Amino acid sequence: MKRFENRVAIITGAADGLGKAGALKLASEGASIVIWDLNEIKGLETAEEVRKLGVDVIFEKVNTAEYSEVEMATKNVIAKFGKIDILINNAGITRDSTLKKMTVEQWQLVIDVNLTGVFNCSRITSQHMLEAGYGRIINTSSVVGLYGNFGQVNYAATKAGVIGMTKTMGKELGRKGITVNAVAPGFIATDMVKKMPAEVIAKMEAIVPVARLGSPEDVASAYAYLASEEASYINGTVLSVDGGIVI
Ligand code: CAA
Repeated sequence: MKRFENRVAIITGAADGLGKAGALKLASEGASIVIWDLNEIKGLETAEEVRKLGVDVIFEKVNTAEYSEVEMATKNVIAKFGKIDILINNAGITRDSTLKKMTVEQWQLVIDVNLTGVFNCSRITSQHMLEAGYGRIINTSSVVGLYGNFGQVNYAATKAGVIGMTKTMGKELGRKGITVNAVAPGFIATDMVKKMPAEVIAKMEAIVPVARLGSPEDVASAYAYLASEEASYINGTVLSVDGGIVI
């Protein structure tokens, strides 16, 4: 029997990057997949790739920062699958700028998506996990939430905030059969990192003890582990997947 057979997993921001790798990983091990993302073109393409692995999949265009959109999308998941076993709060954005130059809009947008989006999805989908007495919530934090980063005061605040949310939700939901954990990726070779100035990427690579950027699949393996039965006694933790950059 595959690890995620009969499991239904919602993965936000799964049109591309880490979320897509997570969706393909869970699907390859039998999970039914729900992709919530703003990018309709890539979202539908990813859904097609997932379907080829022989599992059920739905894509819905959802802005996770909007409570009512998440509510509606959750209703659609319940109508199709009847339950939600796994939520991976992977959707996140950057609007990098030094504190001196950061606009209020850059600050607020990152808070809305990276923090309020995690609240909305967790608040709404956990109602169904509570009814079932089972759930796995995985929140995507970042190395930046652990040690800060030049040019990312907004992003760092959200990724540190996600860790506080993870620990609090783990305390509240653990006794109801739901575990909540965070993954803190380091510098992973996705479009988000590739947008960084080349000299900054080179500096990052030079300080990673395993001497390379991570791959989306490195992070997907951590998502899958925390979503699995094997991780049932792990709750409220932050798993760094960063090649040792925080050592
Ligand atoms: N450390 C120290 N100084 C730095 C620096 C750094 N990492 N980056 C820039 N500076 C310095 C410059 O040398 C320059 O110094 P001087 O003023 O003395 O010449 C100054 O900061 C430039 O400041 P500006 O306000 O003019 O900023 P800018 O317009 O050049 O942009 C920046 C600065 C926004 C930080 C830009 O360099 C940048 O985008 N850096 C990348 C930020 C980054 O690491 N993002 C991570 C994206 S990946 C991700 O987020 C995923 C994840 O979870 C890890």
